[in-house]
Order: sequence, then C-alpha cells, then structure tokens
Amino acid sequence: MLLPRRLPLLAGLLRSASSVASSLPPNPKNVSGREGFLWSSWYFHSTRHQTSREGEQMAKELLDPLALIKDEVSEISNRLRSMVVAEVPELTLAAGYFFRAGAEGKRTCPTVLLLMASSISMDMADPIVGSKNEIRERYMRLAEITELIHVTSLIHDDVLDDANTRRGMDSLNCVMGKKLAVLAGDFLLSKAFSTAAVSLDNAEGHNIKVILLLATAVNNLVTGEFMQMRITPIQRCSMDYYLQKSYYKTAALISNSCKAVAVLAGQTAEVATLAYQYGKHLGIAYQLIDDILDFTGTSASLGKGSLSDIHQGIVTAPILFAMEEYPQLRVIVEQGFDDPSNVDAALAYLARSKGIERTRLLAAEHAKLAADAIDALPESKDGSVLISRQALKDLTEKLIKRTK
Ligand code: FPP
Ligand code: MG
Repeated sequence: MLLPRRLPLLAGLLRSASSVASSLPPNPKNVSGREGFLWSSWYFHSTRHQTSREGEQMAKELLDPLALIKDEVSEISNRLRSMVVAEVPELTLAAGYFFRAGAEGKRTCPTVLLLMASSISMDMADPIVGSKNEIRERYMRLAEITELIHVTSLIHDDVLDDANTRRGMDSLNCVMGKKLAVLAGDFLLSKAFSTAAVSLDNAEGHNIKVILLLATAVNNLVTGEFMQMRITPIQRCSMDYYLQKSYYKTAALISNSCKAVAVLAGQTAEVATLAYQYGKHLGIAYQLIDDILDFTGTSASLGKGSLSDIHQGIVTAPILFAMEEYPQLRVIVEQGFDDPSNVDAALAYLARSKGIERTRLLAAEHAKLAADAIDALPESKDGSVLISRQALKDLTEKLIKRTK
C-alpha cells in the first residue's frame, strides 16, 4: 500500500487495519452508504484500544480519507502555482489566475485521482513500475496534469460562453480579456503535456499510453463543446446525443485520468476499465445533477435555478424526459429558446412532468454504476485500500445529494 508521506505513524495504524481486516464484517466489499458509515465506526472502535491520543487523532484522520490526502492535494496546489510561470509576467498572471490560494475551486480531480490510486494499489510495489514513493509521485504529477487540463477547459469555455464569472469570481476573460485568456489556456495545456512527457517517463512506455489517454480526454472536451455549439433541432431532442455530449464535456477527463492511474500502476486491463467506468459514471451523474440544479437552484423548486442552460438554448435531461411525457414539447424544443415564450412554455411542461424526478433517478443509476465499478475491483484486505474505495463510493453518494 502506498502511504501519504506525512503520517509515518499511520503506517502502524494501517497495519492494524490490515490485521483486523481478516475479522471484518461478512463482506466489506459490499458495504456502502449508511452501512459503510457503520463499518467505518466499527473499524474505529475495534482499533481504539491500540491507540494513544495521537493515534486516535490519526485514526479519525484515517476515517476521513480526504484528511489522509490533504497534504498531497496541497502539495499539488503549490506545485501548480510554481509550474505556471511564463517568460512574460502578464502571461504568468493570467495562467496563474485560477491557481492562486482561494481561487483553486474544490480540487475534485486530484482528490478522486489520489483516492483511485490508493484504491487500486497492489500489496507489493510492482518492480516493473518503480518504488512505492516513486509511483506515488507519478500519481501526483498525473493529478497536476489533469488539473491543468481541467482549468484550461474552464478558461476556454468562459471565452466561448462570454461568461463573466467563474468559481464565484470574475472570469479570466472578464479580467484580462478574451485574447489573453485563450493564450493562457494554451500555455497551461502545453505545461500539462510537457509535465506528462517529463514526469511520467519510464522505460516501459506507460507514459505514452498515459499521454494518449490525456490527449483523448482533450479531444473529447473539444468534441463535446463543439457538439453543444453546433446542434441540429433533431439532435437537440435526442437523449443519446445529450448523454454523449455530457460524457465528452464532463466525464471524459476524469474517466481517462482514472484509467491513466491504473496504467501508471501497471494494473491489468480489467482494473483499468473499472477505474475508467468509475470516472465515467461519476462524471455523468455529476452533470445530470448539475442540469437539475440549473432549474431548481438550492431550493429544489422549479424556476429557482439560474435557468442559464435553457436561456442559452441548451436542452438537458429534465426537458428531454418531460418531452417523453408531453410530445407537444418537441415542437418547442426544435424551435429553440430565442423566443422567451418558448422558455415559459417549456418550464410549464417541465413543472407538470416527472422530468426532474427521472433525471435524479438516472443520476442515481450512474452513481450506482460508479460504486459497482469500485466493488468489482480485485479483493483487498489492506485497510487503507478499503477506506479509499469507500471514500470513492461516498463521493458518488454525496454528489447525487448535493444542492449546489
Ligand atoms: C463547462 O461547460 C465546459 C467544460 C467542462 C469543457 C469545455 C471544453 C472546451 C472549451 C474545449 C477546450 C478544452 C481544452 C482542454 C483545450 P458549461 O458551460 O456547460 O458549464 P459552466 O457552467 O461550468 O460554464
Ligand atoms: Mg460555460
């Protein structure tokens, strides 16, 4: 198991976890949700007698997997800040805009990737892919690269959407203008791929596979954005088209990066596919909830959201489900939403329909598929592996319950 470097004592604790793993409840692989929480508290109490006050604190941290990787995530943030330095000071300012302390967002990508890395770790360091510390460093580089691509996509998206805000602050295009924002994104992308070439290098050619996965993700991001921009009336009414576009725009980066973690770990094709499936379903579930929130906002009642999608003519799952119930809605959707009365009519149909409810159910199905992928990973008795897997599953639960 690959341990974060900050807690040497944790190693002992994890060994305890491994030793108690043999007396785990019937099948920890299948424990999730509330039961997962119960399993966590069971674990905490069963190891309690072995710990000092400091140990107890660490046990709490152990049960909070996000605390476990906290130092790694902040090291990633620091490295990103020092990485995005350009020859020209103004470009440095633009490229570093979303990497400043307080401007970094939730850092979900690095969190998921580090938890995925811990979830698929093999008990023994694989001599082919390097020592445990070396490979943990590579996972961190991969998390940085993914974050660079993610931020690039947001900067370019704000240019395309003419957005004024991002992450609760002025967008980069708003502060420094469109042209500089485009160039800052290009610069970040070049940093992502040069870091991949340099830091993921090894003799086995894993880096080439990883670079190809990352290039696929960028290709998919561009395709998704293009599919949204150049949509025909018939495509606008298609659930398949919407889901494909959602996958490209929201899920392709995290799914390909999760797969890249498995490739870097020298894992089997089967494990790589499961890692990919987790990222894919997590991303789609996230987008479906996002599309609901655009209608409901934090309050769960229709019309309280920003309604920005429909005002931009973007048709999402709630409307598509409403259209299945009320075929009359199709004519309106095909016409588009330049006419405000079409927006009102579509919202009225949506209010009468089960569109929001069915979208929520679809998000829950994807969250379940993401959790199933984690449950299908090869069995492990390593306490840290099990906790990281539980954290990835908890993340899917949290995601479908989020209200903002
Ligand atoms: C957010 O969309 C958009 C994305 C996550 C992807 C954008 C992709 C590109 C601009 C292609 C270029 C990418 C790279 C890496 C070169 P949104 O407008 O639906 O959501 P928002 O509310 O976050 O703006
Ligand atoms: Mg946008």
